[in-house]
Amino acid sequence: MSVRRLAEDQFQPAAFAFNDENAVWADKTIQKYPAGRQQSAVIPLLMRAQEQDGWVTRAAIEKVANMLDMAYIRVLEVATFYTQFQLGPVGTRAHIQVCGTTPCMLRGSEGLMSVCKSKIHHHPFERNAEGTLSWEEVECLGACVNAPMVMIGKDTYEDLTPERLAEIIDTFDAGNGASITPGPQIDRHFSSPEGGPTTLTDAEPKKKASAKKVVADAATATVDAAPVPPSEAARAKSTDAETNAALKTPVTAPKAAANNAKAVEEQAAAPAADAGKPSLTDKNRPAGIERPATPDDLKLISGVGPKIEGTLHELGIFTFAQVAGWKKAERDWVDGYLNFKGRIDRDDWVKQAKALAKGGEAEYIKVFGKKPR
Ligand code: FES
Repeated sequence: MSVRRLAEDQFQPAAFAFNDENAVWADKTIQKYPAGRQQSAVIPLLMRAQEQDGWVTRAAIEKVANMLDMAYIRVLEVATFYTQFQLGPVGTRAHIQVCGTTPCMLRGSEGLMSVCKSKIHHHPFERNAEGTLSWEEVECLGACVNAPMVMIGKDTYEDLTPERLAEIIDTFDAGNGASITPGPQIDRHFSSPEGGPTTLTDAEPKKKASAKKVVADAATATVDAAPVPPSEAARAKSTDAETNAALKTPVTAPKAAANNAKAVEEQAAAPAADAGKPSLTDKNRPAGIERPATPDDLKLISGVGPKIEGTLHELGIFTFAQVAGWKKAERDWVDGYLNFKGRIDRDDWVKQAKALAKGGEAEYIKVFGKKPR
C-alpha cells in the first residue's frame, strides 16, 4: 500500500461547494441517519464530491467535515485510507485502476499496465498530454475469477487482454465509454465458465424424458436395422437436418452406437438458441482431421478453455497449424458456431496459433511477451 497524501497546494482549489442537485442529495443522505449519527454519511458525501469534481480536494474534505460536524482529521483519515478516493487530479474521461494482485498478476495484469504506460503515461497518477486519461495499480477489486481486470469509474472490465484494454482506453478517450458493456469482455456469463456451463447442464425433467425417448428409439433402431450401421439408424430417426449433417462428418461417422445415441440425446436436448448456429455443412466450416496421436494443447490459446477445446475436437480441430491457417470466412464460421461475437479475432487466435505452431511456448513468449495461458 502506497503512502496516500493530499495533492500539492498548486492543484488545490480555494473552495468547494456541492452543486444544487448534489446539495439536495447530500441533505437527504444525512437525514437517513439518526440524530447524532450523521458522521455515517462521510463516505457517501466524499464519493459524491469526487464524482462532481473528479477527485477529492482539501476544500471538499473540510466542507464535508463541516457538514457532518466532524474534525477535519477524521474526514482526512477516511479519504486517505480508501483507495477509491482520488487525492489528486485524474483523467477527465477515464482513470483506469488496474488490479495487480496475485490472481490478476498471474493472468496478465503486467501486460495491462504496459498498455497504460504506453497509451497514457509511464508513471501512475500522471495524466496524458490532453489530461483526459490517467491510471494506477490497485489491490484486489474482487473480480479475481475473471482476472485480469480493471475498474473505470464504478464499472469493472474483466477477462482482459492487452489488445482489448487498448480498445477500451481508446473508446473512453473518444468520449464513448458508455458504449462498452462492463463485465467480462469474452463470451462468459458473469463468472460462469468460459464457453458456457460445464456442470448442472441436464435438461429440465420434461425435456429429459423426451430426450430419453429419442435415445430409446435410436437404440431400438440400432438393433432392428442391423447390419445397417448404428449411425444410419440414428439418422433415420432424426428429423433435424443439422443432426444428420453432424453425423455424416468424417470425424463422427465411425462412432459406436452408444456414442450415436448420446449425440442424438444431445441434439434432442439442445436449446433452441442452437438454431442460430451456422450450418455444419456450410462451405466455410474449417476442414477437420482425424484425431492425431498427440493433439496440440489448444487451451494454450487465450480464450480456449476445456469446454471450447472439446467443441473444437468435435469439429476435427486438433492442431495449432489448423487454427493458424483459418481464413476470415472460416474464423467467422467458428466464431458464429461458438457464439463468440468476434472474440476469435479480438483475441487473435490465428496469431497465437501461428506462434505456438512455429516454436511452442518459447515463440509465444517472444511474440506476446508473456506465457501462453
Ligand atoms: S486479484 Fe484482481 S480482482 Fe482480485
